[in-house]
Amino acid sequence: MKITNVSNVQVAQEDNVKEQFALDVLTGLCSTPKNISAKYFYDDKGSELFQKITSHKDYYPTRTEFEILDSIKDELPKVVGEKEIDLVELGAGDGHKTELVIQGFLNAGVIVNFYPIDISEKAMHLLKKNITAHKNLKIHGIVAEYFQGLRYARTLSTNKQIVLVLGSNIGNFNPAQSQGFLRQLRKTINKSDYALIGFDLKKNIDTLLSAYNDSAGITRDFNLNLLNRMNQELDANFDVSSFEHFGTYNPILGAMESYLISKKDQTVFIGELERTFEFNEMEAIHLEYSFKFLKKDINFLCEHSAFEVVEHFSDKNDYFVDTLWKAI
Ligand code: AVI
Repeated sequence: MKITNVSNVQVAQEDNVKEQFALDVLTGLCSTPKNISAKYFYDDKGSELFQKITSHKDYYPTRTEFEILDSIKDELPKVVGEKEIDLVELGAGDGHKTELVIQGFLNAGVIVNFYPIDISEKAMHLLKKNITAHKNLKIHGIVAEYFQGLRYARTLSTNKQIVLVLGSNIGNFNPAQSQGFLRQLRKTINKSDYALIGFDLKKNIDTLLSAYNDSAGITRDFNLNLLNRMNQELDANFDVSSFEHFGTYNPILGAMESYLISKKDQTVFIGELERTFEFNEMEAIHLEYSFKFLKKDINFLCEHSAFEVVEHFSDKNDYFVDTLWKAI
């Protein structure tokens, strides 16, 4: 596997990440209500906890998407109808789901150039472990921001691109952000290229609540880990045991939301910001949105970003959709 880093020099990047983290925490904790961006969940510990969430029985999205991809992997090469393709994945993931898509194309005799794009080089190495080598498979990891990486991948060949946005990651954007993201995606690829995008569907609220409040408390630890991360990286003194996780469904927004609630009045010092922050008893810090969709919401997003729906592929319970779009 070849890896190209098209982002800035690694050291500079690490400094920038810390500076940006501090700045975002400052902005978030000075806002009303307080918030911290969910993008900071994924330090090493957070990524490990997220992997555990995805294999827990209460968190249905990952296994459901796996089932869908397994059931459509032989159909995709027929729909796309090419002898050689560039499969570009935004966010490297652990490779298990991507492996299915790759196998489908390889089994159909298609040559696959796989370009996983991720800002973390470490994620690239993890992914590699789960992708089986094959004479018709070339892997070229691109360490970059998504669209920077996608533009770079475009310079490498003129094959038809299929961009994978799996895992309902799109649900972590608010509606304006997802429209912006999809329009930018469309602008970065060519007419007739494809996108295969995972969307988690609206469903029975109890099912949603258990997925984001799993019985083993992994999601709780995943959320509380953000406080540990601030303690370690921003020299903060959060007492993690004085906060609790609260995951709820907001039916107005159509989104699961997660919060950390302060169990008491408390003052926290953040060394990197050289200041204290007050938390009132029962005060909430907003961490994450996981938007859920109806198929008509997906069609709307598709129409408004210059794609056409080729097909929505869903599971038997209609819990999740992987939708194949073609750029028009
Ligand atoms: C990464 N993302 C799609 C997950 C989700 O379902 O929103 C993150 C997550 N948060 C709690 N559990 C899983």
